[in-house]
Amino acid sequence: MKRVSLTQYLVEEQRLNNSIPAELRLLIEVVARACKTISHAVGKGALGEVLGSAESENIQGEVQKKLDILSNEILLEANEWGGHLAAMASEEMESIHPIPNRYPKGEYMLLFDPLDGSSNIDVNVTIGTIFSVIKAPDGMAMPTEKDFMQAGDLQVAAGYALYGPQTMLVLTTGNGVNCFTLDREMGSWVLTQKNMQIPAETQEFAINASNSRHWYPPVTRYVDEMLAGKTGPLGKDFNMRWIASMVTDVHRILNRGGIFMYPADAREPDKPGKLRLMYEANPMAMIVEQAGGMATDGHQRILAIQPQKLHQRVAVFLGSKNEVARVTAYHQVGVP
Ligand code: AHG
Ligand code: MN
Ligand code: MN
Repeated sequence: MKRVSLTQYLVEEQRLNNSIPAELRLLIEVVARACKTISHAVGKGALGEVLGSAESENIQGEVQKKLDILSNEILLEANEWGGHLAAMASEEMESIHPIPNRYPKGEYMLLFDPLDGSSNIDVNVTIGTIFSVIKAPDGMAMPTEKDFMQAGDLQVAAGYALYGPQTMLVLTTGNGVNCFTLDREMGSWVLTQKNMQIPAETQEFAINASNSRHWYPPVTRYVDEMLAGKTGPLGKDFNMRWIASMVTDVHRILNRGGIFMYPADAREPDKPGKLRLMYEANPMAMIVEQAGGMATDGHQRILAIQPQKLHQRVAVFLGSKNEVARVTAYHQVGVP
């Protein structure tokens, strides 16, 4: 098999489709390199003294794990000096992080969830990093949070790294979705899946069913119908999977289809769902749409939502088109 490296893929993609200018290529390669470093730390586990909590909380009021903080630092340090960015933002930082004055500034802005699936860190279950790339607004001087308030449709690239039995990088620059596997001996990313496509039909769903008593009627109706199986209104049996790392659930769906749901529920009506729009839902929605799937908040495309706040939350329904369309339609018609 002829091996295509990440660098080669990015260079050829630019030649063919003009979609990855040099500065964006540098950005993607730097993020990929940082993910390699995170993967190495994750792989060390107890031997690297990286497991456990850090005795601090992030802006979302969640206890930070040591690896949340370490991964955040790795991504910040890797991306600060290259000249490709104007600012960064992260799940683990309350405010945006402008590039320090001692470094040149670039035209892109990077958002990330440095470590997704934190509850799985200490039990050796697959976790990951999610990232989103947008352009700095024209004429921006000192970046502010307002400059980040761009709908997901304006993302120029999105991706995630997966730290599992294999370390992988899944990437889109708006021209399909490709997957790279880390060759751990060589330290290089090798293209292993081209143009990933999510099947439109599925018989597999992912939702944290322990929240079912709090769900709103459209979600209850939909899950009840799936659970009713072949003799129910949907006429087919469904299987359920929930890994509690969005990256890993989404990766399964990219490979064999499925629907992932983290709905808003009645617990805290002013908090729409658990997941964050800008560095979890948006990049995943771009990847899913680029793979032929669909991603909504139950009412509209996630990528069409105009963000109001850096850390805002959003309900998420994504994956196989026909099932996402169905649960979205249930939100429109109300429940009989
Ligand atoms: P994070 O670890 O970045 O805070 O994100 C965790 C998210 C997401 O990855 C996952 O799908 C979901 O939280 C799991 O939620 P439950 O704890 O409700 O299962
Ligand atoms: Mn996350
Ligand atoms: Mn996280």
